[in-house]
Amino acid sequence: MMRQILVTSALPYANGSIHLGHLVEYIQTDIWVRFQKMQGHDVYYVCADDTHGTPVMLRADAEGISPCDLIERVHGEHTRDFAGFHVAFDNYYTTDSPENRAFCEDIYLRLDASNLIDRRSVEQFYDPVKQMFLPDRYIKGECPKCHSKDQYSDSCEVCGSTYTPTDLIEPYSSVSGAKPERKASEHHFFRLSDERCEAFLRSFTQSGERLQPEAANKMKEWLGEEGESTLSDWDISRDAPYFGFAIPGTDGQKFFYVWLDAPVGYFGSFANYVEQQKAAGNAIDQDSFLRPGGNTELVHFIGKDILYFHALFWPAMLEFAGYRTPTKVFAHGFLTVDGQKMSKSRGTFITAESYLQQAMNPEWLRYYYAAKLNSTMEDIDLNLDDFIARVNSDLVGKYVNIASRCAGFIIKRFDGHLAAATAKDNPVIGDLQAQADAIGALYDAREYGKALREVMLLADKANAFVDANKPWELAREEGQEDKLQQVCSDGLNMFRLLTIYLKPVLPVVAENVEKFLGISSLTWADTQSLLPGGHRINKYKHLMTRVDRKQIDALVAANTESLEPTPQSHSRQRHAQHQENVVEKNTQESKPEEEPFITIDDFAKVELRVAKIVGAQHVEGADKLLKLTLDIGSETRQVFAGIKSAYDPEALKGRLTVMVANLKPRKMRFGESQGMVLAASGDGPGIFLLSPDDGAQPGMEVR
Ligand code: MSP
Ligand code: ZN
Repeated sequence: MMRQILVTSALPYANGSIHLGHLVEYIQTDIWVRFQKMQGHDVYYVCADDTHGTPVMLRADAEGISPCDLIERVHGEHTRDFAGFHVAFDNYYTTDSPENRAFCEDIYLRLDASNLIDRRSVEQFYDPVKQMFLPDRYIKGECPKCHSKDQYSDSCEVCGSTYTPTDLIEPYSSVSGAKPERKASEHHFFRLSDERCEAFLRSFTQSGERLQPEAANKMKEWLGEEGESTLSDWDISRDAPYFGFAIPGTDGQKFFYVWLDAPVGYFGSFANYVEQQKAAGNAIDQDSFLRPGGNTELVHFIGKDILYFHALFWPAMLEFAGYRTPTKVFAHGFLTVDGQKMSKSRGTFITAESYLQQAMNPEWLRYYYAAKLNSTMEDIDLNLDDFIARVNSDLVGKYVNIASRCAGFIIKRFDGHLAAATAKDNPVIGDLQAQADAIGALYDAREYGKALREVMLLADKANAFVDANKPWELAREEGQEDKLQQVCSDGLNMFRLLTIYLKPVLPVVAENVEKFLGISSLTWADTQSLLPGGHRINKYKHLMTRVDRKQIDALVAANTESLEPTPQSHSRQRHAQHQENVVEKNTQESKPEEEPFITIDDFAKVELRVAKIVGAQHVEGADKLLKLTLDIGSETRQVFAGIKSAYDPEALKGRLTVMVANLKPRKMRFGESQGMVLAASGDGPGIFLLSPDDGAQPGMEVR
């Protein structure tokens, strides 16, 4: 049966770059869409930039440009990055569009007419300098428990206590530095606590297999026991100034909160696509996709972090505004690199742009992600060694190898002409064809890892066939012409079948294979046919190179955040910055002109001691810091040092270095730093810890 599917990926924020974490989602979706299109279904894959809200506004402000200029530039960058990874949206639009505005207003007015919008006063932080309300995350201050400075408004990173923003001592706006005021204003709420919403959401999340089992369970927790819903009303408005859509009837004083207009952007993008298609003479029945009652599907791919919005708020908005609700919400897990969260200091916060700039093949990553993906919300790990091994052995060693071993003989000896191949004469061909439904079912179920394991088993069979028949020996023997042509033709037919199975993942390789084999675009149905006898292929050009370890090293180096000094600072200040760079502080006081020399007495004030590193560990949440425990003979000290990018903590244990032992202790987000270790650094990357010569003992003074 022919399916009609509107597919979306989450709309990336317009204030940041696309990175390898995002690509898990866009590649996962793109593979699914390509697979469904190969099945002959009608599929529309739409996405857009998520452009509204405070962060975009403040970011544009900081860059000295208008929000519109910012989102236009980022739209160009995002489009380029997605195209670079062969993510083929049918439409990539923006939430800042007339279509989106119209849908948002319509949804709001209908919810209001259904008595699902409430208006009540809310007290919030207000920045009197910026003259705007600020989300809590832009407010910082002193921890009410341990009195550490510069803590966020919900929890203290030093003592770990949690509190509400109003408990902060001496709060300040991290945007302007001003003391924020508490100010009341009227907000609009979507009344999710209404019993109609509760009843609908219970049935939406618990029946019809719209969510994965683990997601449905999570929603059950969030919804609470039947009859005692724990859902609170959802605040959907923000006060001017705000970059977004004004709420009808508020005289431009209230705007839709960005999370209201963002998912509606899926529809805005689709409507814009329908309009474009109409102009090109291609009619699509928009209402059959957006209104209830059609037999179309609406499928959302999202990360697990935004499940709440897609499984509760969004379906409820749609249901009570008279729109259709999602058929499926597919959530995936988060990307880790080498088992850890992506990190700028480790160089594993890798942007899509940098990957492409290193001239790395995007299809390597598509294959690797696909090999790791399944239908659950488990996190997926990009293990860089495994990445190299897997791509080289599966794609180059197994798959491409079949073509490169068979094509040359057909071209040289038979002028490109194939012998007829049949499943009857060659059971391996039959084995390959027989898996079409099973592999297709795995793609449809988002079990890409299992699908590819199946495909690689078939590639092993094809290679075993070639190995057993040794075309390179047949080519040297008298009277084996026919057999040589048959073996190579069978091999190329197997290669063609494998190409169909890999095409959703490797669209560019598949296109090059189609050129090489001289055939039109392969679909899933083509698995049931073979290349006819006499068919002529073209010259074989190499289809894929191996990943080189050096490319990975260069990629990580290119993404390692350098611990840049401020240009005018001298080396000591610069080193202090390595130690304290996670603490935001204002040390830009201007100093009077000084003599270029210090006296010996000045120098003697600094107590330098030999220190033995007895403990070294990563600091949760700090990109650049290691926590060192230093033995200086008479006592041990704890020091946070900005040397994480250069040293593995394990390798540091037991070595000697030099520390400033009389530096005033400093409270940092992670604890107190009781001194400073000395390290050299230049203008390029690299940090080099000082060591005394052999024989020095912990505690010895350096003078
Ligand atoms: N703008 C919202 C989505 C609005 S949808 C109506 C948003 N944007 S995002 O840029 O932060 O993320 C876009 C998608 O990428 C989300 O589905 C998110 O889960 C996913 N990912 C972002 N970082 C990720 C990883 N590190 N790993 C896997 N997916 C990640 O959320
Ligand atoms: Zn605290």
